[in-house]
Amino acid sequence: MPEQDPLASARPRHVAIVMDGNGRWAQKRWLPRVAGHKQGVEALRRVVKACLERDVTVLTVFAFSSENWNRPVEEVSSLMDLLVVALSREVPTLEGNGVRLHFPGDRRGLSRRVVQGLIDAERATAHNHKLVLNVCFNYGGRWDIAQAAQRLAAQGREITEESLNSELALSHVPDPDLLIRTGGELRISNFLLWQAAYTELVFTECLWPDFDAAELDRALLEYANRERRFGRTSEQVTQGEPLLAVGGDRHA
Ligand code: IPE
Ligand code: IPE
Ligand code: MG
Repeated sequence: MPEQDPLASARPRHVAIVMDGNGRWAQKRWLPRVAGHKQGVEALRRVVKACLERDVTVLTVFAFSSENWNRPVEEVSSLMDLLVVALSREVPTLEGNGVRLHFPGDRRGLSRRVVQGLIDAERATAHNHKLVLNVCFNYGGRWDIAQAAQRLAAQGREITEESLNSELALSHVPDPDLLIRTGGELRISNFLLWQAAYTELVFTECLWPDFDAAELDRALLEYANRERRFGRTSEQVTQGEPLLAVGGDRHA
């Protein structure tokens, strides 16, 4: 279908964020890195509120990557503790505000205490529909594609784009429209490798603990000024020519 409401495509339904820069935020203040991670939780609370107010329907954040196990053990264990504490503090409010939590990622390798926290938070918010909040924890894009392929192989199913897509850790949401990376690095760092095939990328120098509604609005404005072509020419987009079902149906 040709786009009816030009503003509809100007607003992303699904925003993804690589929340980077916590350590540098802390180091600039002569604080331990964990102080930056704590402020990062505050930033996430602000951004969830802003997304609820802006009718974003899916927010996916990168909280702990498959590669973050390479950090010093003390930092890894502080991040695990922070997750458990943040869940116990934040879930009641999130639940009351219509947020549904998911934790895409590999649960093997996480402690029983952490896994139980994730399961409880998902259960407590499972009835909500206003905003899906995916907190990617022990997540890697390569892990995601491999685990989806393994599941298909175990079921003896054919591997196609559609079947693989249906087994990915984010199969419950459409692909992200906008991906923001804070902290100034210009890379994906093994985030949504499959799902970001046609996502608009916005990079900002802002360190994650400083990110707020105004920064989100700047990224949304940048997104609104992009032309999403999905392989078509600019003229085809302007004339509202529809995408072919094959290869384009995931983006429609
Ligand atoms: C992102 O902030 C949080 C995680 C990766 C867990 P960093 O901790 O990577 O912060 P910088 O990049 O060192 O400043
Ligand atoms: C990406 O940040 C992972 C998260 C934000 C959770 P990193 O700080 O781990 O990324 P690299 O190592 O600089 O690429
Ligand atoms: Mg970093």
